[in-house]
Amino acid sequence: MLQGKNVVVGVAGGIAVYKVVDVVSRLKKQGANVYVIMTQSAANFVTPLTFREISGHPVVVDMWAETTNWNVEHIALASCADLFLLAPATGNMIGKIANGIADDMLSTTVMATTAPVLLAPAMNTNMYLNPIVQQNITKLTQLGYHFIEPGCGMLACGTEGVGRLPEPEAIVAKVIDMFNCKKDFAGKKVLITAGGTQEAIDPVRYIGNRSSGKMGYAIAKAAVSRGAEVTLISGPTHLTPPVGVTFQSVESAAQMRDAVLSHYSDSDIVIKAAAVADYRPQTMSPNKIKKNSATLELVLEKNPDILFELGQLKKHQILVGFAAETQQLLVHAQEKLTRKNLDMIVANDITLPGAGFNVDTNIAKLIYRDGHIEELSKMSKEELAEIILDRICI
Ligand code: PMT
Repeated sequence: MLQGKNVVVGVAGGIAVYKVVDVVSRLKKQGANVYVIMTQSAANFVTPLTFREISGHPVVVDMWAETTNWNVEHIALASCADLFLLAPATGNMIGKIANGIADDMLSTTVMATTAPVLLAPAMNTNMYLNPIVQQNITKLTQLGYHFIEPGCGMLACGTEGVGRLPEPEAIVAKVIDMFNCKKDFAGKKVLITAGGTQEAIDPVRYIGNRSSGKMGYAIAKAAVSRGAEVTLISGPTHLTPPVGVTFQSVESAAQMRDAVLSHYSDSDIVIKAAAVADYRPQTMSPNKIKKNSATLELVLEKNPDILFELGQLKKHQILVGFAAETQQLLVHAQEKLTRKNLDMIVANDITLPGAGFNVDTNIAKLIYRDGHIEELSKMSKEELAEIILDRICI
């Protein structure tokens, strides 16, 4: 998502510096070129070597060090930046920037950059709430600097309150959000389902499927960053819900149905990436079933087809389904598109390597209501998520 983008990360001196190592690593994984500038006090918490290894670039600390680059270093970094992230933004560093002080490499580079600057404050609660710090933040906000709100909780100083560095995932999501100027889903309410449902057999066993939730979570994340108000209803997964979604966790198809129906009338777009169990045990044994016999028979009954019901109730909503097939992909997917009254169906042949369940990529065919089919090559689920949203928007 950040392929080829230059992100300069300015690290000021606070205990939260250790979390910024993870931020740098995550930015790299998103494809960004990351350059780190540290203050001398930040280097007391984590060594520049750590950031050099993670970012893959030399780390700049000292204004007066011998450079390998004939360019004036702070000017070179200031002008290569597509975005400047300051994390942790200490009270001291915020004060310097707000008051035009440039007395070290970091504050000098911030002054010299024309790139958008994102500050992630982290400090003791009383410091953060100090009117001088608050005034500096207001002043910088009015000047066009961007802030990500600090979190609340237990701080390193032992007190509880506001002032924690936001979680690395939230900082990276904000960075991606700032690059993603496409806000074509602003004002749209998008309901997304993800993951597989679990149908209880007894208190310890269930019928489930191999869905990891990756596809649905990728769509939710992309929709949030494009400005949508997203509700994500998910079966059990190992994933962390994307920042900014309204999240509801469910277990069974029946629970997913109730959750989906309660949000349906208020939704503009529904995308059903969840793998919903078609059948559930007719009865759930209240106690753990003992292995007393050589065979065990389970009677299964049909689950409600949630998407079919949505198709019946459809008014203004755009309905997008998925079809996971092992044979006759197009035939089955087209049949589901028509029977469930969908606007588009994302058909994935789950027998192909790199497609379908529990992998990071997918290979899909998009089938539209008018019968038109768009064949897509293998791509990451994040990329596919963007394409699905692009097509919904047209
Ligand atoms: O989660 P991942 O590991 O990333 O894997 C992604 C995925 C393979 C789960 C996803 O890409 C996918 O194909 N999801 C749909 C899987 C599925 O259940 O397909 P289906 O053909 O059985 O169902 C068709 C559509 O009806 C789906 O949108 C499904 O959510 C919906 N459905 C199905 C049954 C049911 N009882 N109620 C439903 O709403």
